[in-house]
Formats: sequence, structure tokens, C-alpha cells
Amino acid sequence: MRGTVWAERKSGPAAAAWPRVLYKSERRMAYILTLANQKGGVGKTTTAVNLSAFLADQGYSVLLVDADPQGNATTSLGLVKTALPATLYEAMLGQLPLDHVIVPSGRSGLYLVPSTLQLAGVTVELLQQQERERRLARLLQPHSESYDFICIDSPPSLGLLTVNALVAAAGVLIPLQCEYLAMEGLAQLLGTVERVRQHLNPGLHLIGILMTMFDRRTRLSLEVLQEVQRHLPGKMFNALIPRNVRLGEAPSHGMTIWEYDQQCQGAMAYQLLGREFLGRLGISSAPAQQHKEGAYV
Ligand SMILES: Nc1ncnc2c1ncn2[C@@H]1O[C@H](COP(=O)(O)OP(=O)(O)OP(=O)(O)O)[C@@H](O)[C@H]1O
Ligand SMILES: [Mg+2]
Repeated sequence: MRGTVWAERKSGPAAAAWPRVLYKSERRMAYILTLANQKGGVGKTTTAVNLSAFLADQGYSVLLVDADPQGNATTSLGLVKTALPATLYEAMLGQLPLDHVIVPSGRSGLYLVPSTLQLAGVTVELLQQQERERRLARLLQPHSESYDFICIDSPPSLGLLTVNALVAAAGVLIPLQCEYLAMEGLAQLLGTVERVRQHLNPGLHLIGILMTMFDRRTRLSLEVLQEVQRHLPGKMFNALIPRNVRLGEAPSHGMTIWEYDQQCQGAMAYQLLGREFLGRLGISSAPAQQHKEGAYV
């Protein structure tokens, strides 16, 4: 893979959008993507799970990090929280190495760092610790060469867990619900991204804004699109995620949208997003070789 996709990426049209891929002695590093929005229920987890599954299906090695104490990404992939040997919580507190926390998702090429409600305690327990906002970045760094993509699902807040997710990432994708007041809070989120970029992670890049729960029959959805385009030209993904009942049902079965109903509108929209996401990174093709051997350690 190193000689194909990564070389193409280096010279591709959007190579500048790939600030974290380093060519150190032919070794590559994963592209780390954080899904963030402090508003709840906008589609962060749905996007993290289905984009990760899309990338794995394309032959990439993907690690999905559930950095939300709600543990919705963990549940969405069908994992039973009470049966988990360890979670991100122990790794964040330095009690266990991340290797002991990563679990296979049961899908080829897709691995998970699971979480449970216990993770909520991290914010208080790290209060006295130095560089507490870099914990996740430091945990992921040694694993970067084992995966092509690391996707981090963050909680609906701008607290320590989201800041950790932004500090660890090369790119941030913001899902935005097509609803009244959608833009409210966006300025605050973009301000946080900018502050993290200035003070903690100069490589952080806004990869795009993804419009979710889109309903083309309503004037409101179209107005929200126009407003985002006007305020942030070029940042909105062309792929629009429709409000789709199948997307809402899939997690309750522990399935990705392709496992649950690959013909539905939601699946098609997420496929378009996956392609567009790769395109924004300057990648037009799937890896020449299937999943990197030994991605799961
Ligand atoms: N496009 C969609 N159409 C219909 N339902 C959706 C869609 N996207 C997500 N949902 C459903 O809406 C709810 C919220 O979505 P999701 O959990 O992805 O949002 P979130 O931003 O991660 O929420 P939170 O902030 O609580 O973590 C879930 O029940 C999900 O299944
Ligand atoms: Mg969520």
C-alpha cells in the first residue's frame, strides 16, 4: 500500500489537506479524523460508525475510537458494554496500554476502542494532571502506523474529551443538522477548533461540514444549506445525509447501515460521503492491498 495510495496522496490535488501524513523512512501514519459538534443528536456517531465501516469496506485498516461516555459507537457496532474487558477510560488514566483496550468489531479491517459511562470520570480524575488535553493523542501515536484511518467519535460538549479528540486529530468533520438554529453554536465550535489549532495542534484542519437529517421537501433544510454555503464557502460536503428511518434503526440492531439495508437512501448518502471524504484527502482509489497485516495487536 505504501507505494500506491500514499504516494498518490502525497501528490494528489488535495495533498495540502493531509497535514499529518509523514514520510519518515517510508513509514506512514494514520489520518486521524474527529467528528465533533457540541450539539447533541446531530449525527456524529452515525457518521463515525458508517464512515469507518465504509473505509474498512474499501480495504483500509480503521480504528474507531469511542470517546463519548454514552458509548453509542460501541453499542452501534453491536458490542455488549458489560462484556468489555477494558475501555478507553483505563487507557486515558494510564492504567492499561491501548493495545489491551482495542477490540475487533467483527468486521474485516474495523477495530474499536470502546467506552462506557465510566469515561465521564476522566474529566475530574485528570484535573490535576499536566498536559491532560494531550492524553488521547499520546495514546494513539504508537498505533498510528498500524492503521490507515483513526476516527474519533466525541461527546456533545466542548469539554476535555472533545479537546483531547481535537488535539489528536489531523482533520475535524462537523455534522450539522438541517434545522432551525443549526448555525447557533457553530461559531463557538469553530472558535474552539481555531484555539486548539493555535495553541495545541497546529496541524488541525476543518475537513468539512456535513449536513444531516436533510429533507429536500422543506424550505428550512434548503435555507440552512444556503446559510452554511454563504458563511463557510467550500466547506460543506456535496453529500447530504437525508433524514432516513433506516439510519435511525440500524444501531438498535448493532449494525452499520450497509449491514442493515445497503439499498436505502441513508446508505447511498454515506457512500457518497465516503468517496467525497477520500477525494478531499486526494485519494481516488482503494488501497492496492487489503487490510494491513497485524493492525490488531
Ligand atoms: N440521517 C438520519 N436520519 C434519521 N435518524 C438519524 C439520522 N442520523 C442519525 N439518526 C438518529 O438520530 C439519533 C442521533 O444521532 P447520533 O447518535 O448519530 O447523533 P450524535 O450527534 O452522535 O448524538 P450525541 O450528541 O448524543 O452523541 C440517533 O438515534 C440516530 O440513530
Ligand atoms: Mg454520539
